[in-house]
Amino acid sequence: MPQPHLRTVVVLAAGEGKRMKSTLPKVLHPLLGRTLLGHVLSAAAPLTADRTVVVVGHGADQVRAHLSEVAPDATPVLQAEQLGTGHAVRIALDAVPDGAGTVVVINGDVPLLRPETVGALVTAHEQAAAAATVLAAEVPDPTGLGRIVRDADGRLEQIVEERDADATQRAIREINAGIYAFDAVRLREALSKLSTDNDQGEEYLTDVFGLLRSAGEPVAVHMADDHVETLGCNDRVELATLRRLLRDRVNEAWMRTGVSLLDPATTWIDVTVALDRDAVVDQNTQLRGGTVVGEGALIGPDVTLVDTIVGPDASVVRSHAVGAEIGAGASVGPYAYLRPAARLAEKAKVGTFVEVKNSQIGTGSKVPHLTYVGDATIGEQTNIGAASVFVNYDGVNKYRTVIGSHARTGADNMFVAPVEVGDGAYTAAGSVIVDDVPAGAMGVARARQRNIEGWVVKRRAGTAAAEAALRAGDAKGAQRAGDAKGASVAPGTASDSEAIHGVTETVGGASGTGDTATE
Ligand code: UD1
Ligand code: MG
Repeated sequence: MPQPHLRTVVVLAAGEGKRMKSTLPKVLHPLLGRTLLGHVLSAAAPLTADRTVVVVGHGADQVRAHLSEVAPDATPVLQAEQLGTGHAVRIALDAVPDGAGTVVVINGDVPLLRPETVGALVTAHEQAAAAATVLAAEVPDPTGLGRIVRDADGRLEQIVEERDADATQRAIREINAGIYAFDAVRLREALSKLSTDNDQGEEYLTDVFGLLRSAGEPVAVHMADDHVETLGCNDRVELATLRRLLRDRVNEAWMRTGVSLLDPATTWIDVTVALDRDAVVDQNTQLRGGTVVGEGALIGPDVTLVDTIVGPDASVVRSHAVGAEIGAGASVGPYAYLRPAARLAEKAKVGTFVEVKNSQIGTGSKVPHLTYVGDATIGEQTNIGAASVFVNYDGVNKYRTVIGSHARTGADNMFVAPVEVGDGAYTAAGSVIVDDVPAGAMGVARARQRNIEGWVVKRRAGTAAAEAALRAGDAKGAQRAGDAKGASVAPGTASDSEAIHGVTETVGGASGTGDTATE
């Protein structure tokens, strides 16, 4: 009975990545929204492999945990000792049932590999019915890489590692990208014949090519269109270079779909982000994770959005948002901080030096200045006065504040949760709101003002302030100045309290409401 033809993807990710000098395994270093390993797995995803095996070793637990998040269908296989790339593939194949088909092997550290390229490699390999096909590229600097050695007819003879190469071979600029397609049966057979007779004493996967060729099997080279895709990552300098290259690729793709990037060199968009056409991204902007930007939205300059949804025609200027939702036509910043579950409805406004966490701000409502909104629900068309704090935390538990629609809260309010302010209600400036304010009421919670007339002339005699007061016609002060020549009075004595007068009930009148509003 013929065996089914299966596609197996093997990703090699057991190496330490010594030159990264990191406690994090090399393949887990992040690069614009995915780890190095995540990029490789997503490049391989369209191959619709029947099984995907990831060889883990260094930091195996961390790599396994990451895999369970990003590729739960992949099977991690432990290579306890890193005895070479050939050894790693042998261990991977030992873990899956024997069978005919194609085995695609990808080094775990080539994050710029595109799905189209690995797809073309596999198609070419399967159409040619080759025993093995290697992805190769012509590079400006081949240092450290395996060289493609061809015979007089230009056919692949062997792949030679730099450290085992002679001077002529070292001069070759055609290199092995570390991405291959193999015929499963012939690969297994060749792997069993690998030696460790090389400079590193390792089993080299690349030696499979020489072995197959000597046995008269057809081996092939598939050239990558763009050598940049084959760049590996061995240290943090290379990682930074890869990040720039990927940034340019991502940015160019978005511009071609109709997104304006005003300064692509300072715009960093994760591969996982989505933007609608006519979005405009200004300079120094980072869009990360699951961020989605709607049509015509204006983002930047100086904005970082992580996992944040921005509706059409919204604007976000000089701000930082994590896990937030910004409704259509809403406006954020400059200098706002939106934290997880900050939800701004359509045309809402969060202005300057405002922090919002786990709160809904209703349609058209505004929190314009210097305010902390935590654990709150704010209705529609409400205005929150400047310098307000939603006091949500008693040191142990957190509580919610609910503000209705069309409310006008005064500047410098503390809303001590749990507390509610009803629809259409007002609160006076400087209030500490600890009790509910019913719909339509004016909530006042502050001490009355008292003016101690003549105090400056008496207590700060001879200062510029006192002279200014006298010039302004401070008659009481002048009189006190005369009295003071006889007997001096300490502040807070009966004499001071005699000076208290003119405290009138103003709230509810013109001055009471006038001082609440900040828009
Ligand atoms: C390898 C190739 C080289 C090619 C280069 C492309 C071999 C012998 N050489 O060299 O021809 O030009 O990639 O980047 O294959 N790994 C394991 N287990 C091991 C050893 C390695 O899983 O025992 C993994 C590493 O984690 C890495 C990949 O295999 O992801 C490649 O290993 P690395 O040591 O980087 O090989 P290179 O020296 O770069
Ligand atoms: Mg390498």
